[in-house]
Amino acid sequence: MIPCACPEAQYLSYKDEIDAAIHRVLDSGRYILGDEVVSFEWEFSEYLGASFSVGCGSGTDSLVLALRALNIGPGDEVIVPSHTAVPTVAAVVIAGASPVYADIEPDYFTIDPDQVEAECTDKTKAIIVVHLYGQAAEMDALLDISRRHNLRIIEDCAQAAGASYRGKKLGTLGDVGCFSFFPTKNLGAIGDGGAVVCQDKPLADRLRSLRQYGWDKNRISQEPGINSRLDELQAAILRVKLRHLDADNSERQSLADIYNAELEGLALKCPVKRDASTHVYHLYVLQLEKRDALIAYLRKNGIASGIHYSMPAHQMPGFFDDIQLPMTEHIATRVVSLPLFPGLSDQQIRKIADLVNRWEIEPSSGT
Ligand SMILES: Cc1ncc(COP(=O)(O)O)c(C=O)c1O
Repeated sequence: MIPCACPEAQYLSYKDEIDAAIHRVLDSGRYILGDEVVSFEWEFSEYLGASFSVGCGSGTDSLVLALRALNIGPGDEVIVPSHTAVPTVAAVVIAGASPVYADIEPDYFTIDPDQVEAECTDKTKAIIVVHLYGQAAEMDALLDISRRHNLRIIEDCAQAAGASYRGKKLGTLGDVGCFSFFPTKNLGAIGDGGAVVCQDKPLADRLRSLRQYGWDKNRISQEPGINSRLDELQAAILRVKLRHLDADNSERQSLADIYNAELEGLALKCPVKRDASTHVYHLYVLQLEKRDALIAYLRKNGIASGIHYSMPAHQMPGFFDDIQLPMTEHIATRVVSLPLFPGLSDQQIRKIADLVNRWEIEPSSGT
C-alpha cells in the first residue's frame, strides 16, 4: 500500500545524521533545554528571517502560548477558519477566549478576508490565519484588516514550514508565527514539538517564561505558566531536518508538478497556487464530487488517501457553533488528499495519477 504520508521514509533518508544527533544528546547528559534546543531556536529563526524563536511541546501549545503572551483570554474573540485542523480552534478555547468562525476562499482553502472583516466586533482581539496545506492565506488583505481594526495576527504555520509570501517566510508576517513539528509535517520531529517565532524581545521573553510555569530567571513564577518545553532529543533531530527542509520542499513541489501535469479529468479540481506565494505541498488536495468512491477505488488498488478535513470544526460537538459557513461546508464534502511526501518516486505519482484518470472515465469499474 502506498501511504498518504510517510515519516519513516524521511528518517531513513537522514538516518546516519539523525542517529548521530540522538547519540550526541544521550552522551551529553543534558536532557531538558540544553544546547540542542538553544541551537535549534537560533537556526530556525535564522532560516525564517525572524528575530526570535521559542521551542515548545507541540503546535497546539505554540498557539496557546502565543495567545497568552499577547494577553488574549476570557472575554476576547479570536477569528478562526472552521476548515482547519481542529487544534487551531482548540487552542483558542484552551486560552479561555471565544473562537469566531469565518468562511474560506474556494480556490485556496484559506480564510476569506471579506468574511473576516464581517465578523469583527469590539471584542475581536486577533485573527488566527492558517496557511493550510502548505501555502499562504491572503496576507495583504488580512494585514490591512488587522491594522484598521487593531487586531493581532497569529500565523498558524503548522502545515507551511518553509513557504513564503511575497518573498518573506511564513511566520514572519504577523505578530507571531506558530509551528508544529508533528512527524508528518514538512519539518517533522520523531514525536511532538512546536515553536513560536516573533520579532519582539519582550514577547519572546514572555513566551519563554510561560512555557516554564511563568518562571523568571530566579525560577520565581511571575504568572501562571505551563510546562511546554521543546524536547532536547527532538531539537537535535529537528536541526538535522531543518538542514534538508528546502530540498524536501522542492521534492514535494516537483511531485505536485507531476500530479498537476498528469491529472486531466474535468470533474476534479487540482490545487490552485496563489501568485504571491510559494506552495510547499504539505498536502496535495483535490476537489471532486464522489470523493468517497475515489478513495475506495484507490484503496482497492493499493493507494491510501486522506480527507483533510471531513467535518468543519463548527459542526463538531466539541467546538460547535450554530452557524452556516457555505464554502467550508461545501469543501468538506469534496476534498481528498493524494499521497505526497519526500521519498515517493515520480513513477509512483504517475501511477496514482493514471489510476485517478482511469477512475474518472469509468468510475463504476473500480467501486
Ligand atoms: C493547521 C494546524 N494547526 C495546529 C496543529 C497542531 O499541531 P500539534 O499536533 O503539533 O499540536 C496542526 C497539526 O496537527 C495543524 O495542522
